[in-house]
Amino acid sequence: MTVAIDLPVGFGVIGVGLIGAHHASNLARRVAGAKLVALADPLATVAERAAAALGCPAWSHDYQQLLADPEVEAVVVASPAAYHADAIVAAAQAGKAIFCEKPLAHNLAAADRAIQAVRHAGVPFQIGFQRRFDPAFARARKLVDTRELGTIQLLRSLTRDPSIDNPESIAVGSIFLETLIHDFDVLRFLAGGAEPVEVYSNADALILPDWRPRGLLDTAVVMLRYDNGAMATADASFRAVYGYDVRAEVFGSAGMASVGDDPGLAIVHHTASGSNRPRPHWFIDVFGEAYAAELAHFAAHVRGKAAADASLDDARAALVLALAALRSTQEHRPISINEIRV
Ligand SMILES: NC(=O)c1ccc[n+]([C@@H]2O[C@H](COP(=O)([O-])OP(=O)(O)OC[C@H]3O[C@@H](n4cnc5c(N)ncnc54)[C@H](O)[C@@H]3O)[C@@H](O)[C@H]2O)c1
Repeated sequence: MTVAIDLPVGFGVIGVGLIGAHHASNLARRVAGAKLVALADPLATVAERAAAALGCPAWSHDYQQLLADPEVEAVVVASPAAYHADAIVAAAQAGKAIFCEKPLAHNLAAADRAIQAVRHAGVPFQIGFQRRFDPAFARARKLVDTRELGTIQLLRSLTRDPSIDNPESIAVGSIFLETLIHDFDVLRFLAGGAEPVEVYSNADALILPDWRPRGLLDTAVVMLRYDNGAMATADASFRAVYGYDVRAEVFGSAGMASVGDDPGLAIVHHTASGSNRPRPHWFIDVFGEAYAAELAHFAAHVRGKAAADASLDDARAALVLALAALRSTQEHRPISINEIRV
């Protein structure tokens, strides 16, 4: 849904890599109620080139300059996750509204430092859980909210990336903290208000077993139990030879909704050379609309015309689930959420 905004929100983008450049382009060309006014990246040439391509009036290698710019009313934080908390604290202290890419952080100490700064400054915040803004996921949520699926009993969410390009660049726990964090959010988004209380996970290096001694986890399955007894599974793989594969299912006493699958085929067969239902190879092709919609929603929220969504609490809750799944894999036992909260 597009909300009319008289005065566009001026955005600065911090970190102009893969997703930062995509958000910058959306802000410059596509997002209703927003305009791109500044870019910052420690690689100055990256910021300069993107600014020239997008007609952005200001760029810098230092995001403090972007934060000092009065034209910047809101920021998109799209640096690597290890730097999110510092950027959020600095932006909050500068009084900017903050859209931050997932994950909020890689540990709870950094996450809570960021949360405290945002709450103290009282600035609007949104986390980059774009699946919430995808039309199919949003429809599934509506079916849950209107109770058309009855009592939710089972949920499922999966993410399969097309390829591992640089295994050396994948930090231990990435499959939970960077990838499955989206699925953990979906499994809260579609649960009708129930909250996960226990997590059990298995993960291994099945794609690149030679990397197992170095701690690579490239394949994972996670089981969750909710406070009302409902159950869920999530799984992820870093190499699906047939493309980018995201699906979800929510099953209740009155029906089932499934996202990412079409009806009408007896069997779906994917191989590296072809498929009877081909999937895109690039996540931006799958979530193009959602990436623009989440920023349009945030701009409307900054102007007080839309309620907060993908909140600080949502960001923290998904991080807690990712940390629980990582610990469950390391300790080979179910982990109660209370063990992570403390
Ligand atoms: N929501 C999604 O679907 C989605 C998709 C991709 C990435 N992401 C998230 O976005 C973030 C960035 O991922 P990416 O794939 O674009 O990474 P990337 O490596 O392609 O880009 C990161 C950019 O940040 C810059 N940078 C490095 N340190 C910085 C700092 N301290 N301050 C500011 N900029 C800094 C780098 O120079 C680089 O240009 C990650 O948190 C990632 O999980 C989300």
